[in-house]
Order: sequence, then C-alpha cells, then structure tokens
Amino acid sequence: MKDLISMADLSLEDIYEILDLAAEIKEKRRQGKVIDHLRNKSLGMIFEKSSTRTRVSFEVGMNDLGGHAIYLNSNDIQIGRGETVEDTAKVLSRYLHGIIARVYSHDTLVKLSENASIPVINALSDEEHPCQVLADLMTIMEYKNRVSGMKFVWVGDGNNVCNSLMLACAIVGMEIVVACPKGYEPDEKYVIKTKELGGILTVTDNPLEASKNADVLYTDVWVSMGDEEEEEKRLKDFKNFQINEELIAVSKPDVLVMHCLPAHRGLEISAGAIDGPHSVVFDQAENRLHAQKAVLLKLLAGE
Ligand code: CP
Ligand code: NVA
Repeated sequence: MKDLISMADLSLEDIYEILDLAAEIKEKRRQGKVIDHLRNKSLGMIFEKSSTRTRVSFEVGMNDLGGHAIYLNSNDIQIGRGETVEDTAKVLSRYLHGIIARVYSHDTLVKLSENASIPVINALSDEEHPCQVLADLMTIMEYKNRVSGMKFVWVGDGNNVCNSLMLACAIVGMEIVVACPKGYEPDEKYVIKTKELGGILTVTDNPLEASKNADVLYTDVWVSMGDEEEEEKRLKDFKNFQINEELIAVSKPDVLVMHCLPAHRGLEISAGAIDGPHSVVFDQAENRLHAQKAVLLKLLAGE
C-alpha cells in the first residue's frame, strides 16, 4: 500500500493494524514516551480548504514522530497560479517523504497519487475523508471494545464523510443506515462499492425510524466546504435531520453520539446531544492525532 486515498484502499487487516498501532501510540504519548521513527522525514500538507483538526493533528503528529511538516496553502504555491498537479507531485517527490492533501476534487488526489513517487494521503476531498473515519473507528473501539456487529446510523448529508463511513462499515462488518433528505443520498458509486465489500446498507429519508436501536448516531455539517452557495436551500432541506434527544431516546441506551466537527449546535445536532453524556466528539477529534500517526508510520516508515 503506497497511498491512502480511499477507505477502500484498506483491508480489514490494515484497519486492525492501524487501530492497534494507534492505541499503542496513544498510550505511549500519555506516558511521555517518544516514538521518533520519522526523524529527518518531511511531510508536505497541501490545503485547498480550511482546517483546524486535520492540519494541527498532522503537524503535531509529524513533530511527535521526530519529523517535520510543511503547510502548503494552495494559494501560496504555484498550483494556485496554474502549475499542474502532475508537475507539483513530481517536484514535491524530490524533496518530501509524504504528502497529505485536502482538495475540492477527488480527482486531484488521484492525479497526485499517480504522479508522486512518495505516499499521498487524503486529508478530505469532495468524495472521502478516510483519516477522519480511522479516528472514528478508534473511538468506537475504545467505547465498545469492538467495531463489528453493531448498527451505525448516519443522519444528514450523504457526502464525503458518509462515503468513507459506508466503506469502513462494510469492511469491518457493521450495519449502516443512512438517513438523508431526498436528493442528498450518497453517490451510487459508493453505494455499489459498499455492497461489493459485503456491506449491509439501507438508505432512508426517515431519521427517527433509522435511529431505532442504533449503537452509533453520527452526523456532519449541513453545508460542507464548497457548498456555501446552497446554504439557504440546505438549511431548509435538512431541518428534520438533526441528531437530538428524540433520536437518542429510540437508540440503544448506550448509544454513542458522534460528529466529525466542526459542529453547529441547533442545526445538525442539538446542544443537548453534542454536550450530553452520549457524546464522544472530542475523543474523535483527539484520536485524529493518534490514528494519523499510525498511518504515517505505516506509509512513511513501513511499520
Ligand atoms: N473533522 C475535520 O476534518 O476537521 P477540520 O476541517 O478542522 O480539519
Ligand atoms: N463534510 C464536511 C466535513 C468537514 C470536516 C466538509 O466537507 O466540509
């Protein structure tokens, strides 16, 4: 495995290896033990969009591992002035040991990966967000001691995070129900891929029905980066797709409430849900650091 572009790049074995390594890394960090296996290695971080968690967790992760991270805002590098993605990939491969990229078009990641001789990691595209989903699986493992044999319910936009979660659920063996307004269903390509991977997937427009007996309730913003022009319409279309006390009441008593963040209280999630006893959203955010360090060790140090 050279790159992490799609969740489907990972086998079940890869996922368990990453989760085990991430748990070990987390414990060692708690004990103050250093794992500096990326000494003298550099990571380029291309960002076409905003980020708090992804940028900071990768930068701190590289620093913890003894390496160095370079933030490359796409407006500040020559890509912003028309240099091709292909040439950028070839040039950066001569300096760096790995690239992460947060892009509008998933195709940009594919081009980076095809033209770079170093690992390329998806830091979010319009289609997928695999680094987020590895941290989510790690969080589920911490609370439930397993990631299979449960009911995972997505409430909201069938977009990038949802696509990666569908694939992940299929790989690890977790049933997934996607509740989204009509017109916001996940792309057919991802529905087919999920089913090919053996996934048990239901797509519905009834969030209350979907949430019955859920082990996990998960949501994301109603207006993703790049969808800002549709904001007014989306706020109307999504108004019944909020994770709140009503959905929690029909879920399992020990349901986990999850959100990739950033969150908007009163829109996709109620304040009571995100700040209440079922919420694990800040564990998810923390686990970005540990899970990504495991990915970096696997791809950049061959561990
Ligand atoms: N969840 C996530 O990727 O957050 P950022 O956009 O802050 O990186
Ligand atoms: N779906 C959101 C995720 C943010 C982490 C977006 O693409 O903006």
